[in-house]
Amino acid sequence: MTTLSIIKADTGGFVGHGAVHPDMMDEARRELGRAIDSGLLIDGHVANCGDDISLIMTHTYGADSALIHSFAWDTFQATTHIAKELGLYGAGQDLLSDAFSGNLRGMGPGYAELEFQERPSEPVLCFLADKTEPGAWNLPLYKIFADPFNTAGLVIDTKMHTGFAFEVYDLQQEKRITFDCPAEVYDMLMYIGAPSRYVIHSVRSKTLDETAAATSTQRLSLIAGKYVGKDDPVMIVRCQSGLPAVGEALEPFAFPYTVAGCMRGSHHAPFLPVSTDHGHPSRFDGPPRVVALGFQIHDGKMIGPRDMFADPAFDRARDQAGEIMDYLRRHGPFEPHRLPLEDLEYTTMAELTKRHADRWTSMTTEVMTTEDAESGAGAARVG
Ligand code: 13P
Ligand code: 13P
Ligand code: MG
Ligand code: MG
Ligand code: MG
Ligand code: MG
Repeated sequence: MTTLSIIKADTGGFVGHGAVHPDMMDEARRELGRAIDSGLLIDGHVANCGDDISLIMTHTYGADSALIHSFAWDTFQATTHIAKELGLYGAGQDLLSDAFSGNLRGMGPGYAELEFQERPSEPVLCFLADKTEPGAWNLPLYKIFADPFNTAGLVIDTKMHTGFAFEVYDLQQEKRITFDCPAEVYDMLMYIGAPSRYVIHSVRSKTLDETAAATSTQRLSLIAGKYVGKDDPVMIVRCQSGLPAVGEALEPFAFPYTVAGCMRGSHHAPFLPVSTDHGHPSRFDGPPRVVALGFQIHDGKMIGPRDMFADPAFDRARDQAGEIMDYLRRHGPFEPHRLPLEDLEYTTMAELTKRHADRWTSMTTEVMTTEDAESGAGAARVG
């Protein structure tokens, strides 16, 4: 069995939250090279989207392996060290714990991992996002694996026609459920249409009995109990031969749908599909963006990557995203550009509530009832 792991963290931004410094990328590549030489990894590739470094790795240790997770943790410590030396912004931002213990769960770095028996040809797509939350993958995963208007194979490929099972996490209550689609599509949409709470964690082919997709699902603010940056999730999608074609897995991104994130993690903005040389959000720390790296996995080796959004066919989506960004930005501090109060990552509301506590006066009318008048009691409030 081969395991494909993407483990990612923001260990410092250059400049502000926009990108990763080349020295940090070099350091991560050196570490990855050593891990390949030592036999820990079969293969690996270092990539970034915005200020988040992704270690994309193949190995034989399965998901949640202590060996692989501690290697990633150590690599992120090393890139943090460089970020500190250069005074980069938010050095070590996503490393929320002081010491590594077993695996990365609850420690800050995000990860998506898939273990599979390699098929004769194994095309995979690795999606990396910056300035948004893990629920950002809900809409494309729904379209890729459940919407026949996106994925022709659901209708015309016998291996896809029975559909897919979606594993959904409730991040607030730490519970999970599996929806059998297409039968339970409407039930599932009720949940995943609220992507700040319900997040698709994995998708399985019912016919092939194979996991086809996996996402990183941690919410940093729920781990840290406060805002420490956006989650900037990653996703793996396996393609072809009874799974969605590469083009079907990319197609949802031709629509620059709206996600939560962008400036201070607190705004709605369009999700911009870009080539890797444009994976550096600058305008209003956005718009949130996604890059896609394509690989053919062969004997565990990662043949690639190909820069999948480096295709003029996505220019229309990019132009449209520019227009949506202009439109939303003009709302300034108003919703729906700004997130609703309960979803704000940054807020002054607690402080303002305290400061203004005795200045808010009731709008209920004060009326003296006959009984009050007779008893000499004070005014009663009527709503
Ligand atoms: P080929 O016939 O080139 O293998 O393509 C099949 C396919 O899945 C195209 O989407
Ligand atoms: P990152 O999570 O990418 O560091 O973004 C933080 C932020 O608040 C940007 O405005
Ligand atoms: Mg950052
Ligand atoms: Mg980031
Ligand atoms: Mg972040
Ligand atoms: Mg062919």
